[in-house]
Amino acid sequence: MAFRPEPAEVLRIIDEAPDVRTLHLRSRIEPEPGNFVMLWVPDGDASDEIPLSISDAGEGYIAITVKAVGPTTNAILDLAMGDKVGMTGPLGNSFEVKGKRILLVGGGVGIAPIHLLARSLSGDRSCTSCQTDGPGDGPEARALVGYPSEGAAMLLEGLSRACPTTVVTEDGSLGLHGLVTDHLHDALISNEIDMYYACGPEPMLVKVAEIAEKAGVPGQISMERLMWCGRGVCGSCLLDGQRTCREGPVFDSERLLSGEDLGRRRLDEYGRWRGP
Ligand SMILES: Cc1cc2nc3c(=O)[nH]c(=O)nc-3n(C[C@H](O)[C@H](O)[C@H](O)COP(=O)(O)OP(=O)(O)OC[C@H]3O[C@@H](n4cnc5c(N)ncnc54)[C@H](O)[C@@H]3O)c2cc1C
Ligand code: FES
Repeated sequence: MAFRPEPAEVLRIIDEAPDVRTLHLRSRIEPEPGNFVMLWVPDGDASDEIPLSISDAGEGYIAITVKAVGPTTNAILDLAMGDKVGMTGPLGNSFEVKGKRILLVGGGVGIAPIHLLARSLSGDRSCTSCQTDGPGDGPEARALVGYPSEGAAMLLEGLSRACPTTVVTEDGSLGLHGLVTDHLHDALISNEIDMYYACGPEPMLVKVAEIAEKAGVPGQISMERLMWCGRGVCGSCLLDGQRTCREGPVFDSERLLSGEDLGRRRLDEYGRWRGP
C-alpha cells in the first residue's frame, strides 16, 4: 500500500439521508473491515485530507459513507459522477473476528465500518480477518444499530440483507424506541453473544463498553481521533499512547476501559489535551 494519494473516480452516488451520502470510488484496493482511507477533494475551500471509514467494497470499487459536518465533508457531498478525488489507503488495522455469536453495534455514521464487517461476515466478499470463504462459513452475526429517526437510517438495506438487524431510533419512528445502549444488555444476553464489534459517537461507545463488560462480553471498538497525517507520523491521533491511525482505529474494549482516554480526553488541532 502506497502512502501517496491515487486518483479515484466517483462511480456511483447514493443518498442515505439529507446530510449523508454513500459514494462508490473506482479502486482496486482490497480492504479489511475497520480500515479507513485518507481522502482529498480538489476544491479551493476544502484543502484538508480527511479520514473516512470504508463502508463497502466490491469488484473494482470501494465505498465511503459521509456525513456533512464541515468544509471537506460538504465538498465530498457536492461531488458528481465522474469527478475525481485523491485517495490513500487502506490504512489502519481491522476488526479481528474471534467469536461464534457476535453482535455488531453501530450508531450514526459509525455504522460505516460495521456495514463492511456485516457484508464480509455474510460471505458477500472474501475477508481475511473474518476467516470466511463464503456464505455460511463464518460466525453467526446480528446487528443492533441506532439513528436519531427513520429519515437518518443510513446503510440499513445492506446491513439487513447481511444479518438479522435490530434498529433503534431516538424518536421511535422506526424499530425500537430509545438509544442503542438502552437495548444492548438485552441483545447481548438473549442472543448469547460472545463478542461484539462497535463504532459510533464516543459517549455511546463508553456506555457500550461498560454495559458489555458488566455482561462479561469482550469486544472491539473502532475509535475516532483528530487525524492530520493518517500515516503514523504526526501524533495528532494519540489514544492511550497508541496512534489511532496505525495501531488503531480498532482497539480491544478491555484495553480502552483500562486506559485514560476513552470518553475523557483527546488532542485538539493545536496539540492540547481536551475533555470529551
Ligand atoms: C478513523 C476515522 C474514520 C472516520 N470515518 C468517517 C466516516 O466513515 N464517515 C464520516 O462522515 N466521517 C468519518 N470520520 C470523521 C471525519 O473524518 C470528519 O467528520 C471530517 O474530518 C470533518 O472534516 P470537515 O472538513 O468536513 O469538517 P471540520 O470543520 O474539519 O470538522 C468538523 C468536526 O469533525 C472533526 N474532525 C475534523 N477533522 C478531523 C480529522 N482529521 N479527523 C477526525 N475528526 C476530525 C472535529 O471534531 C470537528 O469538530 C472518521 C474519522 C476517523 C478518525
Ligand atoms: S494522524 Fe498522524 S500519527 Fe496518526
